[in-house]
Amino acid sequence: MIRILGIETSCDETAAAVVADGRQILSSIVASQVDLHARYGGVFPEVASRAHVETIYPIIRDAMEAAFLGWDDLDAVAVTRGPGLVGSLLVGVNAAKGLALGRQLPLIGINHLEAHLYSAWLMEDAEALTFPLLGLIVSGGHTELVLMTDHGAYQRLGGTIDDAAGEAFDKVARLLGLSYPGGPAIDQAARNGDAAAFRFPRAWLDDSYDFSFSGLKTAVMRQVDRLAGQPTGLPVADLAASFQEAVVDVLVTKTARAAEAFDVTGAIVAGGVSANRALRASIRDKVSRPVYIPPLELCTDNAAMIAACGFWRFQAGQRDGLEMDVDPSLPLV
Ligand code: KG4
Ligand code: ZN
Repeated sequence: MIRILGIETSCDETAAAVVADGRQILSSIVASQVDLHARYGGVFPEVASRAHVETIYPIIRDAMEAAFLGWDDLDAVAVTRGPGLVGSLLVGVNAAKGLALGRQLPLIGINHLEAHLYSAWLMEDAEALTFPLLGLIVSGGHTELVLMTDHGAYQRLGGTIDDAAGEAFDKVARLLGLSYPGGPAIDQAARNGDAAAFRFPRAWLDDSYDFSFSGLKTAVMRQVDRLAGQPTGLPVADLAASFQEAVVDVLVTKTARAAEAFDVTGAIVAGGVSANRALRASIRDKVSRPVYIPPLELCTDNAAMIAACGFWRFQAGQRDGLEMDVDPSLPLV
């Protein structure tokens, strides 16, 4: 059995986890900084790296204790080296390097976007995963549609040309006066709203596999301006539901089309926005192949996905030296 310690500090979650054979979570600890950043309405980079410095070692210790393992039981340390905030990434990578050196463990640098896809291998029905697979990664910083032809082998089909899907949720939430982080707040508000109340634009971009959400955000802003000052107040639930519907419509339509065009065996939906209730329901309904969406706690940032990805990288022979550097804009393909 191969046991890998995963470490994740790319944004505002400090996380450590131990995973066996890329499939079985022995422990997974996530410390969210959401409360620290809420007052700024977004992630404040300096605050994030300071908080990572304070929590990373206790979190790693907790993950080892929860897995009932000693350092000798580990086979490698896997850590996110990008993409993400440079100061935050450095905290995780330096902690991993310290462990690799001090405990004589192989060091494996991981791409955060690739790791989001590997959260699917932590699901109960993961034996069914066979290539080629489609991957939709929708997070706060990224929106990517990729074809996965084998472990570690990707072809980029498209991605956002402006705002990421999660970023659009966060910005629109702010316009609607909802709390940070915006995705869960819109998801919640939309439940009491009418998705047909407002017809917001969809950017189809000539039927490519690219996405654009900035026009949608502007349309919501104009609508909010128009409605402002109404005696009844802003119809937040209807606006949230109509906005969410527009995002989900484009994400699902393009994913369904790609699933057919590339004749994939299934589609993995990953990243923070895959926690969205409307997206989960619609994509299961409209994509004609099996859809793999990890449970909520594996959709948002965590270290179990880093360790799961690390297992496949370990099997493929990847070993990084102590000179390994962070890369804030590391692409998936
Ligand atoms: O993957 P993630 O945890 O961090 C990044 O790598 O960016 O994604 C965070 C993003 C945020 O923009 C957040 O608003 C969004 O995921 N998000 C959601 C939901 N939960 C989190 N968006 C829509 N609906 C949700 N339920
Ligand atoms: Zn993420």
